[in-house]
Amino acid sequence: MTALDAIKARTSYRDKFESTPIPKSDLTKIMEAGLSAPSGCNKQTTSLIAVDDPELLAKLHSVITPPASETAPAMICVLTQKIIAYKDRYFNVQDYSAAIQNMLLAAVALGYQSCWYEGHITDTDAIGKKMADILNIPDDYELVCFLPIGIASQPPKPADKKEFHERAWFNGFGEVTIKKAAQKDSEIIHKMQVESFTPVLEKYQDNETSPAAETLERFKERFYTAKIHHYLIELKNETIGYVRVLMLPGNVYKLSSLFIITSHQGKGYAQQAIKQIEKLYPQATKFVLTTIKQEKKLCHLYKKLSYTPKREEHIKSGMDLIHYEKIIKRD
Ligand SMILES: Cc1cc2nc3c(=O)[nH]c(=O)nc-3n(C[C@H](O)[C@H](O)[C@H](O)COP(=O)(O)O)c2cc1C
Repeated sequence: MTALDAIKARTSYRDKFESTPIPKSDLTKIMEAGLSAPSGCNKQTTSLIAVDDPELLAKLHSVITPPASETAPAMICVLTQKIIAYKDRYFNVQDYSAAIQNMLLAAVALGYQSCWYEGHITDTDAIGKKMADILNIPDDYELVCFLPIGIASQPPKPADKKEFHERAWFNGFGEVTIKKAAQKDSEIIHKMQVESFTPVLEKYQDNETSPAAETLERFKERFYTAKIHHYLIELKNETIGYVRVLMLPGNVYKLSSLFIITSHQGKGYAQQAIKQIEKLYPQATKFVLTTIKQEKKLCHLYKKLSYTPKREEHIKSGMDLIHYEKIIKRD
């Protein structure tokens, strides 16, 4: 099994184990993997105790409440020393975390299952302290975690993980990209615009102002104006939204008709898109935009992006517009 195979296969196993004893040589290999982990300033603050003696295991499990992996034929207890690495920096938590991960991977590579039990024993009921007393651990060491080691008797169930693109990106935060749109894109953008703004139109019945009510012809016309730039918001080559930027005198830029299609709303994509758009205009003195005051989420988004409300405009009962601006300060 390669390291990457072990990383992929590892999952927290909390089910029953086979009673098959674990050879000491395997427990040693797992502990060696733990001790091979990096440590801040090489302070090596992590120590380990493998327990495979059934009586001692039973004693330890008698203080672990509620029970956790009590059928495992072995466990590895993880001890840490809170030692200064340099200046006033402690890295012992990072040290033992790296050691634990190495051991979890080594266990999988050797055909075992395990689980990182830390929360369970470091809670207010201080189970770790009770385990440490049973193992005669000196006071300057803290028992922070135990790893059951054994052969699974049930198929391990991988935990749900967020999608790759929700947590990992290349070359900056977020995976949204901005691409210049051309007139040939107008039909598809118009379709998305209608889709995105229809819920808002239905809510406010603002037929005169809603982009959902804008005709395709009117939408296309905007592509003939030199002072308007059109951008597609893309996610992994899929178009998920659009921003129109109007160039106003004095290097003021108005972000208008910004939308994300409904299936992708509420995921932070608009925020990523606005940040990227702003970067496209380094000469800007000010960005301005308008939103519906009653749309609290949008108001919150613009506030988060440092837009300040400048002016309100009453449209109809239950619907007001807020005009926001963001002044760009230069040194
Ligand atoms: C610092 C830390 C503490 C944890 N403590 C516990 C625990 O006390 N009990 C438990 O069942 N799992 C514990 N886990 C395991 C996590 O619940 C588990 O990693 C997470 O649900 C993701 O599942 P996976 O390990 O299968 O990817 C802990 C994990 C970490 C990193």
